[in-house]
Amino acid sequence: MQPIRRDLHFAIPKDRVCNWHPEGAHITQFFNTLSLFFPRGERFFIDSVRRYRDDIEDPELKAAVIGFIGQEAMHSREHREYNETLAEAGLPAHELDRITTRLLDWFRDNTPADMQLSATIALEHWTAMLADVLLNNPDVLEGAQEDFARMWRWHALEETEHKAVAYDVYDKFVGRGLKAYLMRTSGLVTSTLMFWGLVFWFHIRMINADPSAKKEGHLRGYGKILRFLFLRRPGVFLRCFKPWLDYFKPGFHPWQHDNRHFLAQIDELQAEAERAYSAAS
Ligand SMILES: [Fe+2]
Ligand SMILES: [Fe+2]
Repeated sequence: MQPIRRDLHFAIPKDRVCNWHPEGAHITQFFNTLSLFFPRGERFFIDSVRRYRDDIEDPELKAAVIGFIGQEAMHSREHREYNETLAEAGLPAHELDRITTRLLDWFRDNTPADMQLSATIALEHWTAMLADVLLNNPDVLEGAQEDFARMWRWHALEETEHKAVAYDVYDKFVGRGLKAYLMRTSGLVTSTLMFWGLVFWFHIRMINADPSAKKEGHLRGYGKILRFLFLRRPGVFLRCFKPWLDYFKPGFHPWQHDNRHFLAQIDELQAEAERAYSAAS
């Protein structure tokens, strides 16, 4: 599985950034909140993998790492633009990005390279699980403004395509011994608590800054979020629970959950995105 860098742009309409999802403001802001983490988060993933790049001898893994870095750089760029649009709409995107940046800068400057790589593979496991939920439940984006929907599908497909790259680097350089296992699994527990803690906090900040959320009613809006995460359509946490546990198997590998059939959608999505972008510009 070789990830390919696709230099795609998405002309997301600025006036729809707070209401692009048909389920309303709270769900729209949930996706928008996830977007806030990508520019700095994906820069962190790139740095932690790049540190090992020059020592990789296997040409296939080396090429996969180059593809991985290229894909994450494109995601980072597109989400930075997305987040600028959020800031222009009066949402605290810059302030929340600064919090993520301070945290990840500290982590980069104060922890060893293998621990940073363990955080990267844990968060890549989360992006792969979330991508799988999205791709398995296309109705989640049904009725959404099409440029936003396309951008999220593109990101989900490429996260799937490169889901094992950082993991293979960890396997090669940190290994499969007890220390590597403990660092990998404790990395998942810590990353899970920190990531979702920040997501919920930032989500509340985003909702409070969005006047349309208040108008729609918080009780109803948060009810939708609870349903979205814990019950059905799609029940994000319920669906992620088993793959999350699988990570604790000593012989775990991301492709043991084989969902590569989704990748057949990429070429068509790329063509669609290029058509839409050239029509808009
Ligand atoms: Fe990404
Ligand atoms: Fe990724």
